[in-house]
Amino acid sequence: MNILLTGGSGYIGSHAAVALAQAGHKVVLYDNLSNSQLDVVSRVGRILGYPLVLIEGDVRAPDLLGQALREHSIDAVVHFAGLKAVGESVAQPLTYYDNNVTGTQCLLRAMHRCGVRTLVFSSSATVYGEPRYLPLDERHPTSAVNPYGRSKLHIEEMLSDLALSDASWRIACLRYFNPVGAHESGLIGEDPNGIPNNLMPYIAQVATGRRDRVSVFGGDYETPDGTGVRDYIHVTDLAHGHLAALNFLASASGVGWHAFNLGTGKGHSVLEVIQAFERASGMKVPYEIVARRAGDVASSYASSDKARHMLGWQAKLGLDEMCASAWRWQRYCAQL
Ligand code: NAD
Ligand code: WQD
Repeated sequence: MNILLTGGSGYIGSHAAVALAQAGHKVVLYDNLSNSQLDVVSRVGRILGYPLVLIEGDVRAPDLLGQALREHSIDAVVHFAGLKAVGESVAQPLTYYDNNVTGTQCLLRAMHRCGVRTLVFSSSATVYGEPRYLPLDERHPTSAVNPYGRSKLHIEEMLSDLALSDASWRIACLRYFNPVGAHESGLIGEDPNGIPNNLMPYIAQVATGRRDRVSVFGGDYETPDGTGVRDYIHVTDLAHGHLAALNFLASASGVGWHAFNLGTGKGHSVLEVIQAFERASGMKVPYEIVARRAGDVASSYASSDKARHMLGWQAKLGLDEMCASAWRWQRYCAQL
């Protein structure tokens, strides 16, 4: 298949590009480089042994998008492009609705015009809002607790309406849990600008000495050790989930709109992640327990049964591999 990856030079997109290209697909990247560097594309090329095409553009630019879809005879789109910082979305909701929701509308219009009807969308476990029961399965009610989450929910609903209106669409919303880790080569990974919002990149920067200690947000949750529990998933497993979703959409059952959780089904606490990172890196990761972070829930983890049954996919890599790969990537970053 010829596959366009919007946001393809970002953290998850670059790993999916490797997995899809290694499975024999022709992959074209489309990214405005608002949160990624051109150099990522050359490192993806080093992993693959050949260069990928990057079209530098915004998903809100319909003409360029249409041209990309036609010139590369695109069969399917994987839509990673979007803004993802929860706090920033609270401060700048319109920026998030414009980039994420309007951006997706523009993409869908361009796909419609060019006759491309297969889409995999990067959704998030955030669409479940506050968990009413665990593990979270795809039937759990959806709700949004911040503008970022609301943008994901709007997009999922828009995609569902579209699939109902026209039976030729094949759409999979992949609800990622907590993606972490890096490609085994150590050449690509997550490299946030400024102070990391997320736990794993923060721990990695403490381990290298770039930051003093991890602030553990809350030690009094109803969890085994009092710290927050999440379903961390290796980005390589996540990347393979996209391949499985594309194969499913191409099958007879792929018609219509579908939602799948991509998680491991296992929860790990903040302290467990810190300890695993210390084992993987051989470095000390000092931490201090501080107040809870507003908006955090005690525990969140997936039921991944639907993806296992319908996509034939399940996560293979554990927390130790996640930490080891994140550490390898962090050491590479230190030389960049
Ligand atoms: P990322 O920021 O590394 O990648 C997103 C890419 O999209 C970047 O390269 C950025 O330059 C590009 N982009 C943003 N807006 C664009 C636009 N308007 N036009 C073209 N390109 C644009 O983020 P990521 O972690 O790789 O996330 C990818 C997707 O997965 C996002 O939609 C995100 O919301 C979703 N997601 C991420 C996580 C996570 O924890 N990383 C969890 C759940 C869902
Ligand atoms: C994990 C755990 C924190 C940082 C976020 C988004 C979600 C999704 C994934 C996109 C929690 C604790 C964290 C730190 C800490 N993104 N923590 N100290 O909050 O589960 O999910 O990223 O869709 O929408 O909300 O991930 O990595 O921020 O936090 O103690 O410095 O680590 O309290 O328990 P989160 P996270």
